[in-house]
Amino acid sequence: MNTNFFGERTVLMIPGPTELHPAVQRVLNSPIMAHYGPEWAPVYNEALKLAAAIFKTKQEVFMMPTPGTVALETGVVSLVEPGEKVVAVVNGFFSERLADIASLTGAETIKLAAELGKVVDPNELDKVLSKNKDVKAVLAVQNETSTGVLNPIPEYAKVARQHDALFVVDAISSYGGVEMEFDGWGIDFCVGYANKCLGSIPGTVPVAVSEKAWEAFRKRRTQPRSFFTNLGVWRHYIDEWAPIGHPYPTTISPHAVLCFKAAAEALLQEGLENRYSRHRLVSAAFRKAVRSMGLETLPEERDASPVVTAVALPSSLWKDGGKVGQIMLQKHRIMIGGGLAQLHNKIIRIGHMCVTASSRYIVPTLAALRDTFQQLGYTLNDGVETFMKNIGDSG
Ligand SMILES: Cc1ncc(COP(=O)(O)O)c(C=O)c1O
Repeated sequence: MNTNFFGERTVLMIPGPTELHPAVQRVLNSPIMAHYGPEWAPVYNEALKLAAAIFKTKQEVFMMPTPGTVALETGVVSLVEPGEKVVAVVNGFFSERLADIASLTGAETIKLAAELGKVVDPNELDKVLSKNKDVKAVLAVQNETSTGVLNPIPEYAKVARQHDALFVVDAISSYGGVEMEFDGWGIDFCVGYANKCLGSIPGTVPVAVSEKAWEAFRKRRTQPRSFFTNLGVWRHYIDEWAPIGHPYPTTISPHAVLCFKAAAEALLQEGLENRYSRHRLVSAAFRKAVRSMGLETLPEERDASPVVTAVALPSSLWKDGGKVGQIMLQKHRIMIGGGLAQLHNKIIRIGHMCVTASSRYIVPTLAALRDTFQQLGYTLNDGVETFMKNIGDSG
């Protein structure tokens, strides 16, 4: 394990995987269970109920034992036939990848893009959909983890519905950390996650599918040319294999589901609204603190994510941009994220998700950042005081 001479391990302030919720840590020590059978079925079903409560849906939810990307690909491959049109709302690395998934699976992909750090105006989506009446689906990311931007999913959903397009949402870095109303907003396919805002381990991915999406799947002219990412295969196992407690076409990780369940219970115990407002409060105080230190945060305050903050590095530091993360890790035992693709070495990204959205984790991070910059020749103001002033007694 990555420890220093006190045996202290590295603290994860990256935007996922995050520090584990203590309830999850306890479950990790439990004995193995089979991933099917009469003892397992109620556990899995309870996990689905909790996942549905976080999605706020009464429609179908299941778990995929995959990375998030495979679950996203399942939505696209299953709902869009080769040659059909989609609009991908793009403003960063992960939304660009969602557009890539669509193109690579044969969809005619219209990219509706905004500059990095900015949001695509829902009116622009309306315009594109008015011009392209045959769009089958709109694809968007709720929280663009690469730039710390929260996209206006309820507004996009409204526009997609008005144009009768399916709406596929990547909520991987926002699930359990930011408001989600799968039924209320009218989303058709949504991918959540376990090891970001939920504070669980990787290995199981909750997916919500609307009735409208199943209907669209049934009406396909051709069948998806895949097995694992084919919703029809999942439908078969959900319908036919549920009686033996195995409603999935593969082996799933019982520990990942047990941990998900513990993390979801902890979230519902805290209360969805309480968890979301804690993220909002801590992130706003963190951004203020970073700016008071003399640094800039990437998106405008209005578009800033409550769960990950992108901090711009001074351009004079770009050639040594990687050193910020290195010093944070080696000297302070705190791991932070760097910039992806065009933003490589130009920004750093700090996650404040689940347990790390608290002063206990943010205060050392701010202090370590200040010291790190000092070591690189930049004298910053102290951000801790600003953070504490803005957090009050709540964080
Ligand atoms: C918004 C978003 N989408 C997709 C992914 C990819 O997920 P995975 O690595 O599990 O495939 C990530 C991972 O950080 C993400 O933040």
